[in-house]
Amino acid sequence: MDLNVVILAAGKGTRMKSKLPKVLQPLAKQSLLAHVLKTSLSLNAAKVIVVYGHGGEQVKSDIGTGFSAAEVEWVEQSEQLGTGHAVLQALPHLNEGSRTLILYGDVPLISENTLTRFLNEVSPGDTGVLTVKLPDPTGYGRIVRDHAGVVREIVEEKDAGNEIRKIVEVNTGIMLADSKDLQQWLPSIDSNNAQGEYYLTDLVKIANQHDVPVIGCRVKDPIEVEGVNDKRQLARLERLYQRKLAEELMIAGATLADPSRIDIRGQVNISQDCFIDVNVVFEGQVELGTGVQIGPNCVIIDSVIGAGSIIKANCVLENAQVGEGCDVGPFARLRPGTEMKRGARIGNFVETKNTIMEEGAKASHLTYLGDSEIGRDVNIGAGTITCNYDGVNKHKTIIGEGAFIGSNSALVAPVDIGAGATIGAGSTITKSAKENALTLTRAKQLTIESWKRPEKNSQ
Ligand code: UD1
Ligand code: CA
Repeated sequence: MDLNVVILAAGKGTRMKSKLPKVLQPLAKQSLLAHVLKTSLSLNAAKVIVVYGHGGEQVKSDIGTGFSAAEVEWVEQSEQLGTGHAVLQALPHLNEGSRTLILYGDVPLISENTLTRFLNEVSPGDTGVLTVKLPDPTGYGRIVRDHAGVVREIVEEKDAGNEIRKIVEVNTGIMLADSKDLQQWLPSIDSNNAQGEYYLTDLVKIANQHDVPVIGCRVKDPIEVEGVNDKRQLARLERLYQRKLAEELMIAGATLADPSRIDIRGQVNISQDCFIDVNVVFEGQVELGTGVQIGPNCVIIDSVIGAGSIIKANCVLENAQVGEGCDVGPFARLRPGTEMKRGARIGNFVETKNTIMEEGAKASHLTYLGDSEIGRDVNIGAGTITCNYDGVNKHKTIIGEGAFIGSNSALVAPVDIGAGATIGAGSTITKSAKENALTLTRAKQLTIESWKRPEKNSQ
């Protein structure tokens, strides 16, 4: 049976106090809705429908990377009259003969595992409700089961009497039913309740009237069904999620100095014996080879770090490829297009961009290397700058194997430094420098014996 997924995302999110629609608020740098979409698409759904309302156009265009709005059908609910009314808008779009799973744009951490279990436990033809037991069920719809455990009714807090309020098993909101049942039943629900809304939860009563069994499937980890309504809940869920990601990294074998001081905003793949110090932020896709060590306060974005390499404190890497046995930092900035081969070193206050450092090349201090190829075993002295930009175009600097660049040199690109060349400290190099020779552009040092320091005027 085909699966259709309907994601309810039309709510205003007033409590966020933000111009950004609620479902676009970020959790681990991805919008809440993107989390739900990613999970939906992993279920091999034949169709994913998002019911949007508030900030609709922005929601469509900014759902985040990894999805094109085309993979998703967008259905507008212009007035938010309740969860039942929201699903009603999607009914004409459901595939014939499919089942429909209803998810929420502001319940981001529902997992593929839980949903797969839910889809298996509820047979086609039955109706399913995903439930959770909470120590404090205040505010949630309560699950009323009969003696056989069949769910008979969901009663909203505002419509519940004292006995029902004592029930701690609550509705997560996530439901599953045959699409044709939804199409038949939903148009008949009304808004005769304490909130004057069309409640999706009324489906349970209607299913029972039609002798369709309603299966209550309980979620084990409450964080999966936690919703986000304000910035406090957003922060709380971010921390819970980060903790979970840190646990996964440790289960995979990483040593973390403190699992509560690491942030993963993407995917980190590790090999054995990686060590990650405190306050490291990972973004995008990051790969760490065997025995990699990351010092405190590093930001590592879309980068690969080879086995045995050490990234010392306070480095920022973005789109960088670090080979094996490299040494980076402290305080280094590797910008996109940086490639370090085995044993290369980039030290403190060095910035690189579009630069290849061949095996054993070193730039240990205070340097900018842009659009350059640094040959094997080259030594770049402190204060070296590749002047790669003439104000309009970028140009290349190519330095041959074993060259030695004296401190405080400016290499004005396009320029070639021959293999084995030595550049005298303080030179400004504008033409090719010959291999295996000393090139320098410094003025000669003079001593003027007759010079005297000026004296202060006596008046
Ligand atoms: C709902 C459930 C309640 C459950 C709780 C779990 C109903 C009637 N109640 O209550 O049993 O315990 O979720 O969190 O379903 N939305 C729309 N259009 C609307 C109304 C809501 O898209 O017209 C979306 C919201 O954006 C939100 C979700 O549906 O993502 C839930 O709506 P909300 O009003 O928060 O429902 P609750 O009162 O929390
Ligand atoms: Ca809610």
